[in-house]
Amino acid sequence: MTSPPVLPNLPLDEGEDEPANPSSNRTFGDVLAERLSRRDLMRGALAVSVAATVAAPLTMSGAKPAAAENASPVSRFDFAEVAAGSDETHHVAAGYNADILVRWGDPVLPGAAPFDPARPSASSQEQQFGYNNDFIGFIPLDGGRDRGLLVVNHEYTSDELMYFGLTGDKRADRVKALSDEQIRASMAAHGGSIIEVERVDGRWRAVPDSKYARRITASTPMQISGPAAGHPLMRTNADPPGTKVLGMLNNCAGGVTPWGTWLTCEENVNYYFSNKDAAAASPLAKAYSRYGVPEGFYPWNRVDGRFDVGTEPNECHRFGWVVEIDPLDPASTPRKRTALGRFKHEGAGNVVNKDGRFVVYQGDDQRFDYVYKFVTEGRVDTSNRVANMDLLDAGTLYVARFDANGRGEWLALRSGDPRLEEFADQGQILIHARLASDRLGATKMDRPEDVEANPRTGKVYVMLTNNDKRTAAETEAANPRAANRFGHIVEITPDSGDHASTGFSWEILVKCGDPSVAAVGATFNPATTADGWFGMPDNCAVDADGRLWVATDGNNAEITGRTDGLFSMETDGALRGTSKLFFRCPVGAELCGPCFTPDLETLFVAVQHPGESEDPKVLATAETPTTRWPDFKDGMPPRPSVVAITRRGGGKIGV
Ligand code: FEO
Ligand code: CA
Ligand code: CA
Repeated sequence: MTSPPVLPNLPLDEGEDEPANPSSNRTFGDVLAERLSRRDLMRGALAVSVAATVAAPLTMSGAKPAAAENASPVSRFDFAEVAAGSDETHHVAAGYNADILVRWGDPVLPGAAPFDPARPSASSQEQQFGYNNDFIGFIPLDGGRDRGLLVVNHEYTSDELMYFGLTGDKRADRVKALSDEQIRASMAAHGGSIIEVERVDGRWRAVPDSKYARRITASTPMQISGPAAGHPLMRTNADPPGTKVLGMLNNCAGGVTPWGTWLTCEENVNYYFSNKDAAAASPLAKAYSRYGVPEGFYPWNRVDGRFDVGTEPNECHRFGWVVEIDPLDPASTPRKRTALGRFKHEGAGNVVNKDGRFVVYQGDDQRFDYVYKFVTEGRVDTSNRVANMDLLDAGTLYVARFDANGRGEWLALRSGDPRLEEFADQGQILIHARLASDRLGATKMDRPEDVEANPRTGKVYVMLTNNDKRTAAETEAANPRAANRFGHIVEITPDSGDHASTGFSWEILVKCGDPSVAAVGATFNPATTADGWFGMPDNCAVDADGRLWVATDGNNAEITGRTDGLFSMETDGALRGTSKLFFRCPVGAELCGPCFTPDLETLFVAVQHPGESEDPKVLATAETPTTRWPDFKDGMPPRPSVVAITRRGGGKIGV
């Protein structure tokens, strides 16, 4: 590792990665000077509004007092709250079923071998459900009420929890101890799965031998498209034209387009590349460093030389993209859409703008990195699916600057801008989007994860997980807490309800953490119960009724006294900023992929890395997991799984 991690056994996206942004964008001194110099700050109303962005949620929301809105505020959510805590299994609100739908190792392709954890096999794993399910998308079939396709990301492998017999006290040691066959099996456990699901007698199940069934892995052939395709920085020995690549890596969150394709987003791709000496000696050293390449965590270079930066200096440029996949055509070639930029993509929350252009909101999940959006040049054709298939190859990528006065600007990453003259062309701007964004003065955020638009209100929600590295001198309006351990949620309002607009206003919906500990500075609505608050917002979903749900990553008994889970979140009216616990993970797990069916009768969630240790100084392994969820059998490791949640007797979720 570049710098020895303080807590060696945390999952990949939870702290092992050091900040990689050395730019001088936005310090507290700049922001303070800007604040104090603003003449209109002296006017009472605006002074209150600016102060309110760091105050309680009721005032900062701009929400009307309860008396003016409704004498007795009514929640948009109706369910019996789950008690917060931590134990070996999952918990859902009373009156709901939470059924295990598919687990790591379950068959996906026809003829797949049964799961055998004692004998890891790459060829078996290529046909079975992969590891660490993250994003879930639902593509309706036959109207979608009782049938559809689930598209599921497999972000990364927790090898120490998957394989028996590894040795070493640290995750990294155990990963280094993998056999070549185990490495190949782990490569096959990455990527994604497409499974057909159907509801029979009220319960969902995977359809065996579906014609749509597909596994995508770290080796699946893919096309590189958009402005960076064929760029000199994309060319390798195996692919001199720079237009084809094998596999996708570390696919975290994602999105589904209105034309029914799956957007799956590559996040911490630096972990798969090795050879720090070659990287340091390369003319590309500065750019490698900005992307944390090569982290050298997974020893994949042992079985495939393209993961050695010395052998293939450009292979790493071919990862870190949004990949578009057509689930309705199992023979289709996935396409890496370079127009959306290369960084550590969290998700691809999207909306059709009122002028028909398609807008994709994106977080770059690292401490001090940025929030982006992409606006297509063309318009969505609602009558012709095929016409949309290459819509994502042309458009403008923007990065966000959040100003101290509650305004903000989307800054275009566009060739020809004199501030970007060091970049040879648009392809290089996109390949090194982080470096280009540094030049434009984007705002360094507290780990931007999911960014989702609410099509009903036009508001956009940005999950900021945490940033324990931010110093007091580095705090600023949009990231107001030093050593921000629990994260916060920012709400963006595009100017004129136009998602293509470059101007927006913003405010903080909630600062997270335990509201009963004053030093934490959390700002949940006081209506939030002792079970209902959370830390570390990560994934989120806006359901068909326009309600926000937030999934968390990083809570545990030691940090917050509770496992990760899914929380409802009020965004309007007197209850704005009130959250409530609906589903709780088994110990060690993170909750990903909240995905509602369009009829709101089913919620699919992805339980990722169950069985991890709650104490970062203690490593949980396949032999010593903190839970063997969901099978609870000796000799069976814990298994990341997708859970289908339905209401007993039928009906909408949480209504
Ligand atoms: Fe893979 Fe940003 O969580
Ligand atoms: Ca995360
Ligand atoms: Ca995530």
